[in-house]
Amino acid sequence: MSLIRKFSNARRPFLVKNKFIPGGKITLAGDKSIAHRALILSALARGKTILNNLPIHDDSLATLNALKALGIKILRRNKQILVFGKGRQGLKRPRQPIFVHNSGTTLRLLLGVLAGQDFKAKVIAGKYLSARPMARVNLPLRLMGAQITAKIKGREEYAPIVISGGNLKGIIYRPNVSSAQVKSAILLAGLFATGKTQVIERLKTRDHTERMLKLFGADVAISHKCIILNPKKNLISPGKIFIPGDISSAAFFMVLAVITPGAKIIIEGLSMNPGRSGIINLLKKMRAKIKVTSFKSSGFEPMGNLSITSSNLKGVIINPGQIPSLIDELPVLMVAACFAKGRTVIKGVNELRVKETDRINSMVSNLRKMKAEIQLKKTGSREDIMIKGKGRLFGAQLKSFGDHRTAMSMVVAALAAEGESRIDDISCVSKSFPGFLDTLKSLS
Ligand code: S3P
Repeated sequence: MSLIRKFSNARRPFLVKNKFIPGGKITLAGDKSIAHRALILSALARGKTILNNLPIHDDSLATLNALKALGIKILRRNKQILVFGKGRQGLKRPRQPIFVHNSGTTLRLLLGVLAGQDFKAKVIAGKYLSARPMARVNLPLRLMGAQITAKIKGREEYAPIVISGGNLKGIIYRPNVSSAQVKSAILLAGLFATGKTQVIERLKTRDHTERMLKLFGADVAISHKCIILNPKKNLISPGKIFIPGDISSAAFFMVLAVITPGAKIIIEGLSMNPGRSGIINLLKKMRAKIKVTSFKSSGFEPMGNLSITSSNLKGVIINPGQIPSLIDELPVLMVAACFAKGRTVIKGVNELRVKETDRINSMVSNLRKMKAEIQLKKTGSREDIMIKGKGRLFGAQLKSFGDHRTAMSMVVAALAAEGESRIDDISCVSKSFPGFLDTLKSLS
């Protein structure tokens, strides 16, 4: 069966009229970040790797189709994805430019892989991704020896990008943004370099690449914020990989359950990677009734079940050091803050400006329309958001800004608000969670 799905551009306005009390049990498709890494490393190892619970959405398909364009055979068998890896030297020069749609993780990680190939490739991106900064990956990859040209505007670089790789050397690099995508691009390039590659992070970011590299037998040493990779000749497929449920998708249901009186839900088989579970710790600090059960630390990624009950939230301070562990959950946490009692301050939110859309603008403008009290503050170059929780929001005409996480956050806000809301277009949820509305309905 072909894995190339049509990317739908059809507008999908969404009207939220009828409220419901979420209840019941759900499981979610595999984690998006882990999925990208599983696909890429399976392609770079020799032989077959079977991926279970791989999510099928626009972003995972972007990585999958990019690997196919590089000559990797990938098949779907029932619910499994089979990747026939060709080893580190097995990728082929693509016949056409590789189109990565709007998947930032695909583009940045792919650049790391392409930096190691001795052929030239062009990568092009969709409208939203073409507006996102790329110098953060291009600079270290150039230091390693890749030749990269990109579209330049002011001091920043953007897709389309042309890259000629090969003959890389390892580097010691301290990225000036805390980004798992940048770290991962450098480590993936490091697989093809001579000598060791070292990344020293300012703030620790999600470590899925390091875990996946270890699972494939790579020589990776981690000491807190420093990762050292020594390239080996071959990666060894573990044979099968199970991808635990996506905690970023779960976040929308967690928040909906805590802010809806009478709600109680259970989410099973979720990824509990400490670099991603900031949302759980934070909601607990806001006094949410959340319990982790059946926690399993075995395997390459920890997982567990969550039970979430409607709660009376209180405001909280989020410090810059906590941001990487909940960066993608900040939009829906802003909704939770509106329903909490007291002030929530989120410090150091700058990176939200360069996500699929400017998420400070998208969330603040929408929530203000719903009568939320929000202030923005700039201290030097650091941006903070302050929300005065009033325990309620009011229905309004809302916009997704073409961003999946803004769209789903606004569905949650609208469901808990008083009165009717309309969201202009939620077709963008297909980027990470095409089954969002069905899962939501299953809880009603
Ligand atoms: C991701 C890292 C984060 C996150 C993105 C996925 C990843 O981006 O926001 O959704 O899979 O590595 P940054 O690396 O830009 O922080």
